[in-house]
Amino acid sequence: MSRPAQSIHGQWSSRWAFILAATGSAVGLGNIWKFPYITGENGGGAFVLVYLICLAAIGLPIMMAEIMLGRRGRQNPVNTLHSLALDENRHPNWKYLGWIGVLAGFLILSYYSVIAGQALAYVFRAFSGVFEGVTPDGARSIYNALISDPERLLAWHTIFIIITMIVVARGVQGGLEKTVKFLMPALFAILLLLVGYSANTGVYFDQAVGFLFQADFSQLSSTAVLTAMGHAFFTLSLGMGAIMVYGSYLSKKTSILKVAIAISIADTGVALLAGLAIFPLVFANDLSVGAGPGLIFETLPIAFGHMTGGTFFGGMFFLLLVFAAWSSAISLIEPTVAWLVENRNVSRRRASVMVGFAAWSLGLLTVFSFNIGSTWTLFGKTMFDLLDYLTANIMLPLGGLFIAIFAGWIMSQNTSNEEFDIRYNFVYQIWRVLIRFVAPAAIMIVFLNATGLI
Ligand code: TRP
Repeated sequence: MSRPAQSIHGQWSSRWAFILAATGSAVGLGNIWKFPYITGENGGGAFVLVYLICLAAIGLPIMMAEIMLGRRGRQNPVNTLHSLALDENRHPNWKYLGWIGVLAGFLILSYYSVIAGQALAYVFRAFSGVFEGVTPDGARSIYNALISDPERLLAWHTIFIIITMIVVARGVQGGLEKTVKFLMPALFAILLLLVGYSANTGVYFDQAVGFLFQADFSQLSSTAVLTAMGHAFFTLSLGMGAIMVYGSYLSKKTSILKVAIAISIADTGVALLAGLAIFPLVFANDLSVGAGPGLIFETLPIAFGHMTGGTFFGGMFFLLLVFAAWSSAISLIEPTVAWLVENRNVSRRRASVMVGFAAWSLGLLTVFSFNIGSTWTLFGKTMFDLLDYLTANIMLPLGGLFIAIFAGWIMSQNTSNEEFDIRYNFVYQIWRVLIRFVAPAAIMIVFLNATGLI
């Protein structure tokens, strides 16, 4: 079957544009907000080690698979999987794998936007100087005041969804490329500054390094392993077709291996820097490592409140965090929007409004989880925890498992080899072993282990 050489939505202007957009998708709240707090909750070093192993052995090969499938299919994930399956004379039902992804992206966006809204609120808090000289208790009560007020959370959530919809409506290439090019390096610079500040805490910095990098496996539960693996998917934006969609706008000439490595390194670097910035503050101020989703909001203001120029740097930090979340949120709904445009003949604008409104409505559950709905639980989890667990720990790894099976077993070796640069033949062989055996087996073992079956 012949397929267009380009997607109907156009193509990235260069390899760099793709790397930037995919890095923009990968680097977000997952790195700066989520990684530190789940590391704290799961005991540190051993969790970090499992997470890094999952990134290299499962995340990287699946990222390469997603880029490859997207670039070959040149359509949204649902149609791409449908037509690639037909090419191999396999069952068209593989398209439902695309559907799991569409659903996961939408569910994630619903709560992602609420947290991004909190970061947005902090831009104004920080610039207005309320963090100056703040104590740990003060920082905590500023955060509590924000999340205990459903109206305020709702307002920030609404603003964030609207700005996301605006960019998606305009098409991913236009605004996104330029934004990411300047803002990502700036975010990186501020993180370095924060790490420098935290390094000044001396013994506490050493304590944080020990906490992050000394693996104590007695601390590691089977759910912690599942969380670490789920987060490897979450942080690299894998398992739901976001990277697949971005791959569908990629030129045939680009080396898939090189871009996947560049994205993974940037993403991991940001997460580790965030950890190194935050944990020294946690130890120096005698805070709890297991503080949960509020961790960055309760620790970083203390640093900003005491450093020279902290009002400016604090404001800039949260502003850049919002931009990082923004460029991630876009990729969460791009698969759904691309599907509506391609299959339902809806305009991009209309599709963005529809999806944005639906995600906004579902986001109310997360808004209320922090206040009036904190007692609404299911399986012992609040609605926010449940959405997070369901998507990051179940749907993404499951999506990843099937993507690996599709790329390694359904697609013929000839086809996948054709998509990889031939000069990397040795690399191709390694990739194939990882995608056929290592990644699927690892995912299944972690799943079975977490359910207590093994
Ligand atoms: N990777 C982003 C982060 O770390 C979140 C994200 C964007 C995502 N697109 C995704 C997660 C697709 C899973 C799937 O913040």
